[in-house]
Amino acid sequence: MYNSRIAGLGYYVPENVVTNDDLSQLMDTNDAWIQERTGIKERRHVISGEDTTTTMGVKAAKIAIDRAGIDKDDIDFIVFATLSPDYYFPGPGVLVQRDLGIKTVGALDVRNQCSGFVYAISVADQYIKSGMYKNVLVIGSELHSHGLDMTTRGRAVSVIFGDGAGAAILTREVDTSKGILSTHLHSEGQHAEELSLIAPGMGKRWVTDIIEDNDANDESYYPYMNGQFVFKNAVVRFSEVIMEGLKKNGLSPDDIGLLVPHQANLRISQFIQKKFGLRDDQVYNNIMKYGNTTAASIPIALTEAWEAGKVNDGDLVVLAAFGSGFTWGSVIIRW
Ligand code: UT7
Repeated sequence: MYNSRIAGLGYYVPENVVTNDDLSQLMDTNDAWIQERTGIKERRHVISGEDTTTTMGVKAAKIAIDRAGIDKDDIDFIVFATLSPDYYFPGPGVLVQRDLGIKTVGALDVRNQCSGFVYAISVADQYIKSGMYKNVLVIGSELHSHGLDMTTRGRAVSVIFGDGAGAAILTREVDTSKGILSTHLHSEGQHAEELSLIAPGMGKRWVTDIIEDNDANDESYYPYMNGQFVFKNAVVRFSEVIMEGLKKNGLSPDDIGLLVPHQANLRISQFIQKKFGLRDDQVYNNIMKYGNTTAASIPIALTEAWEAGKVNDGDLVVLAAFGSGFTWGSVIIRW
């Protein structure tokens, strides 16, 4: 019997800071609206040619590998979560294997959007718990900015998302009272289109159809979000899945040392904080600086929290996410 534990964490965000005022030069929006509704002050956008989803993931991974005190050749498996891959196929997992010069281990791509990192951790954890692998590299990385509608038409979505990457090394832990205690995953495909990017896709509109139609009003290749519907579902599912994880381990909200929620909206994090009666220092938020970086948001936030000394041996750390799919999940960790 083994557990897995997080042995090393790293993150990378592009240098280019885009403030709310910068966005108001491109579209009809303003700093007050964005901050009031989301808590976001600024986000990072990749400057074209300087980074990709894969290169950001590789930069985060190098830091995580170094901090874990292992060599790249000790990595047995790669799990890469993103909704914004460099290529339609192959996914970025194999590009990381190539760019880091890792031997020919398996590389798996996870497509679960905002819940991607939680799903990826769950997969890695199960491989380690089964004894199959000892060290798994888990990456969440997103390059949103090149795919957003930066006009007033797209403002409800475009002001929210940002670019960046985070990574973790999961390693075998023989003390099963420590490390990842449990993971909890859910989905509800009934609401798939409520937060989605429909085209290009093989089902409806492929690139050739889009080019042939040459329709400037076609919004199907930009992300769509039914914001209020997503918000309402998010607060319910976040609460449920955190409670599910705590109950499974005979724990209660009082036991939480640090909650690191997916950074979807500061108002959602504040709602969860209030619901569970947590103090400000028990919830880590950084959406103010980076916006919503979907699969990258939890590993970036967890790394920052760890760097700030907010995650210590013995602490109960809870990760939770909700997003497109709908998908949601939680991870309960005894650090
Ligand atoms: O990470 C995955 C999960 N995602 C989430 O959990 C996101 C959940 N949803 C949300 O965070 C919120 O719904 C948003 C922040 C996306 C939007 O906030 P909202 O309070 O639901 O606003 P709304 O979409 O209902 O729009 C309100 C008004 C509209 O104008 P009218 O119709 O009232 O005249 C919008 O056109 O705000 C307008 N609006 C904007 N105004 C200025 C929409 N986007 C903007 C903008 N700047 N960027």
